[in-house]
Amino acid sequence: MTHNSTPSRILLHNGAFVTADGPERGPLATWEALGWRPHGELIATRVATGWQTTWLGERGDPRRPAYDAAVDLGGRLLTPGWMDSHTHTVFAGDRSHEFGQRLAGRSYADIAAAGGGIVHTVAATRAATVAELTTTAAARLAEMVAWGVRVVELKTGYGLDVATEGKTLAAISALQRQFAGQLTLVATAMPAHAIPPEFRANPDAYVDLVCEEILPVLARGALPVAFCDVFVERGYFSVAQADRVWRAAHKLGMRLKAHVDELSAMGGLEWALAARAVSVEHLLCTDAAGVARLAAADTVAVCLPLTSVFLREPFAPMRALVDAGARVALATDCNPGSAMTTNLPLAMQIAVLMGHLTPPEALRAVTRCAALALSEPGGLTGRIAVGQRLDGTLLDVSHPDALFYQLGAPPRGRALLSAPPFWQIQP
Ligand code: NIG
Ligand code: FE
Repeated sequence: MTHNSTPSRILLHNGAFVTADGPERGPLATWEALGWRPHGELIATRVATGWQTTWLGERGDPRRPAYDAAVDLGGRLLTPGWMDSHTHTVFAGDRSHEFGQRLAGRSYADIAAAGGGIVHTVAATRAATVAELTTTAAARLAEMVAWGVRVVELKTGYGLDVATEGKTLAAISALQRQFAGQLTLVATAMPAHAIPPEFRANPDAYVDLVCEEILPVLARGALPVAFCDVFVERGYFSVAQADRVWRAAHKLGMRLKAHVDELSAMGGLEWALAARAVSVEHLLCTDAAGVARLAAADTVAVCLPLTSVFLREPFAPMRALVDAGARVALATDCNPGSAMTTNLPLAMQIAVLMGHLTPPEALRAVTRCAALALSEPGGLTGRIAVGQRLDGTLLDVSHPDALFYQLGAPPRGRALLSAPPFWQIQP
């Protein structure tokens, strides 16, 4: 239907909902457990910040309040807007040559030790302009939009100097303007992604630079920086160095994320939990003790199954984490070295097929638990619930199982609340 002026109360009908308004922790055996409403109806009301769900019920409910416009969802499925809670999307160049070397038997660590890996992308990124960084990342974000993603976290970390980390944040800020209404972007400062070549002989001096210059510059950047992330790994940052970075970031008002247990377990998980990190990421070598620690913590376990596939490494213990009661999110890790992909639904599919999550657990991992991993960005809770800001992914399927069926080519999603205005969606 069309309207000349923006209506203030809208009924969404003739669709099915998964609200993700179920438990954040523990196994989900059925769609009902995550909030499956095959005959759901919803009324959204305009508020200063956008739209808010003010009524949620079933078709034919006599208590349904009045509304002034109706949107026919055409039998489609509506879920909370999907969030890719861990990406390194802004970078220049590519590493297809290294990919070939890895397929021929060379390890990721070997390539990095020989001066390739992250440092290779750093050289290309330092040479790129903000405009080049913005254009190449925009193409990746456009793919994410097509998958139905509504929120993307983006890390700096291919600059590793004041100027290029700042350039990366400027690109993220430009991307937020370019994708306004389509995507909410969350910026994470990650100058502690690798030791740059000029500091190889003195990594602690680079940690000084991160703490004293790079983080303060990012904190004053064009876009608020919510988080600081550190790669705790042999050859990258020790726990002691990560702790220094974290203390500096904390003073600047950033919250902690950490890459831990990716290639080796070296105490990063225990440190990050003690520092009350919002999330810990990768977890490929997390053992039973680590799983138990995560189950007892609020820290979200962000699992990145496409990185495991891309590196031919084991998967994070996704099933064990959910069973133990940890909060588990799923993300792409989109980056040129260990996960050259934008495909969040594929990450969900692989988590189900290879990581033995149930489909509802995988959907929770890109909605409610991803929102927790990002501290509910812009007030988005990753749920559809009365009194909460409404944001949704609208999918061309009638049942959520269909999201997992067409491997590698899942149904495309679209934003509920972007142009054309959602009260004008054609069935
Ligand atoms: O998340 N772990 C560190 N960073 C990326 C890899 C970055 C790269 O290889 O360019 C990751 O796997
Ligand atoms: Fe990563």
